[in-house]
Amino acid sequence: MSQQEQWKSKIGFVLAAAGSAIGLGAIWKFPYVAGTGGGGAFFLIFLVFTLVLGMPLLLGEFMIGRMGQSDPIQTYSKLASNPKWNFIGKIGVFTSFVLLSFYSVVGGWIILYIIKILSGGLAGLSQDQYGQLFGEIISEPYSTILAQLAFMLITIFVVAQGVQKGIELASKVMMPALLILFIALVIRSLSLDGAMEGVKFLLVPDFSKLTSESILFALGQAFFTLSLGVSVMLTYASYLPKTQNLPQSGISIIILNVVIALLAGLAIFPGVFSFGLEPNAGPVLIFSVLPAVFSQMPFGMLFFLAFLILFLFAALTSAFSMIEIIVAAVTKNDVSKRKKTTWIIGILIFIVGIPSCLSYGLLSDAKLFDKTIFDLMDYAVSNILMPLGALLISIFVSRKIPKAELFAELKKGSNVGYAFFSICYFSLKYIVPIAIIVVFIDAAGVSDWILALFNI
Ligand code: PFF
Repeated sequence: MSQQEQWKSKIGFVLAAAGSAIGLGAIWKFPYVAGTGGGGAFFLIFLVFTLVLGMPLLLGEFMIGRMGQSDPIQTYSKLASNPKWNFIGKIGVFTSFVLLSFYSVVGGWIILYIIKILSGGLAGLSQDQYGQLFGEIISEPYSTILAQLAFMLITIFVVAQGVQKGIELASKVMMPALLILFIALVIRSLSLDGAMEGVKFLLVPDFSKLTSESILFALGQAFFTLSLGVSVMLTYASYLPKTQNLPQSGISIIILNVVIALLAGLAIFPGVFSFGLEPNAGPVLIFSVLPAVFSQMPFGMLFFLAFLILFLFAALTSAFSMIEIIVAAVTKNDVSKRKKTTWIIGILIFIVGIPSCLSYGLLSDAKLFDKTIFDLMDYAVSNILMPLGALLISIFVSRKIPKAELFAELKKGSNVGYAFFSICYFSLKYIVPIAIIVVFIDAAGVSDWILALFNI
């Protein structure tokens, strides 16, 4: 039996888990998905999903992770005393693999922007030119693939060092820096002319803009930004001692995550409205609006460089968690196999990710269901695999593990009340599964058929 690795400090775990949560989801995806999905109304639904579904699930993963003290696949069979439950962990490991294969593509774009800025190629362009530049940068095949490789190599290098010396140490430096710079950035954005329009767009809900698709996206987004349904949080919690306060850690992570998403929105939308852009521009949003905002301030490019480096950190700390669960599953937590396994898995992920990388250039015409390879992977992970994983985990936690054992686990290291636990438990048992199933059915268009039937 191999010895589990352990976090060195309590705050180290919180920052590593917050690092997994905060990434492209909160900083890059949230503003553009909110922009397309109705602004304030989307944010509100996202917030409700985060609290009502996200928090119980996060605590659910924490509880069974620390209970099982094992890898993401065996935890399930160990706790259920039945190997057939392993499939939940296997789906998570598969999801994580696919996810990192395209996540690293965007990580590569950030690296390319950093290089561009260092070579002086970003200063003094017009808003339109920034948009155009983004299109040029991401469609160039060799540099994007090389940048994606660079992103994977950093990820592999850090995770190969282990839990404490790699993931924890990196997260402890990267996460606080991210928060401080973001605040500076928002202050700058809010002082732009017409900034209030952007703030209103983000914070004042207009429910007429919501569609069933945007509700599905808000659900996907709530799970995505909290890294839920993949057994990542379970794996991180498996490295915890029984003295960690799980509810407190979970709440801190959720607050940090929402704050960063909010700050990202507040950094972007004032600029969007101030420059008369469309909030539903899609993935280009952050890469075209922010340089324009920054270029209007003294030392703007220096600030943008600092922002990009932190953005890269945020993406990296999420990538660490994705590869970590695969490494944990493959090595079964045997430390002696960590280095070699991390390298092999990392390189495989890079190779599998190449078509996604090319889908903004050479392979842009390769489409299925009207989606590029990149979009297809993203859709499968964010809107199908992660909610499915979350559904299975909620069922597992609330129906396979005795309620009293769960409460006993949650109480270790905390004096959490039974009422709080019961609310989370109720949500895991009923609300989470029902919400996911309803949104799934709705997204599959079933509700439209039913409506059509009644109309006849
Ligand atoms: N939470 C990360 C983000 O928002 O960028 C993405 C993520 C990481 C999702 C790890 C799932 C996961 F297992």
